[in-house]
Amino acid sequence: MIYKKKSFSLEKKMLPTILFQRNELLTSFQQRVRRFFGRKLFTSLFVNFGSSKTIIEKKYFNICKNEFSEIKDYFPKTTKNILSIGCGVGGLEYFFSYIKTIRKVDLIDRNFVSKKVIYGFDFKNLEAYNNLDYTKYFLLSNGFSNKKFEIFNYDKDKLPNKKYDIIISLLSLDFHYPFSVYMNYIKKVSSMSTILILDTNRPNYFKSIYKKVKIIKKVEKNIHPYWRIMCQRIIK
Ligand SMILES: C[S@@+](CC[C@H](N)C(=O)[O-])C[C@H]1O[C@@H](n2cnc3c(N)ncnc32)[C@H](O)[C@@H]1O
Repeated sequence: MIYKKKSFSLEKKMLPTILFQRNELLTSFQQRVRRFFGRKLFTSLFVNFGSSKTIIEKKYFNICKNEFSEIKDYFPKTTKNILSIGCGVGGLEYFFSYIKTIRKVDLIDRNFVSKKVIYGFDFKNLEAYNNLDYTKYFLLSNGFSNKKFEIFNYDKDKLPNKKYDIIISLLSLDFHYPFSVYMNYIKKVSSMSTILILDTNRPNYFKSIYKKVKIIKKVEKNIHPYWRIMCQRIIK
């Protein structure tokens, strides 16, 4: 696939949010220093004194481009509707604009940054770190047509009710908070052919919910290891 861009265009104010969402933007040394200072203080110092916007724009673009190329073959050839749960700023979702058959991408996230960003698994799902205005601005300013996407605030909006071809949640559902938070909703918006792609620590758990579960990759060299899996045919 040939992309029109070689890098994203970002506003400086978005950088902390993106750095909270994507650990790979930092080297392992920087991640160790961050553990010492805490995420918020480190990120603020890094954005103001230690980083280059151009480098983050390029790195974020390449991370998301690679994520997309790793999963795009799981998308049905006629993919029309995609749901992204925990989209963050939307770097991966930008690449969905290259799917020729696409009709609509619906994006769900929360609209606050928790007091203490821990980046762990939390059964209560109290943690979040996004700004939905940034998501909208990011997609529009990088050329995603406003007719092709819609953003939903998990805490305030009525979630969309349609059948999706793809439901995707990278580093969010069952990575930060349990699948049960969305299970009934996902059942409602899934058909027999809907494909779910998500990151989890417990791939076997999904075998009790889906008839087909396939491991896309296992990410071990990470402070938070996980399996990226693809599931189909939800047992209703
Ligand atoms: C590690 S970030 C991943 C962002 C993006 N998917 C990516 O791959 O770059 C996790 C995201 O999940 C979001 N989140 C937390 N709780 C959520 C919920 N109940 N529904 C939707 N998103 C949620 C956070 O706000 C954050 O944007």
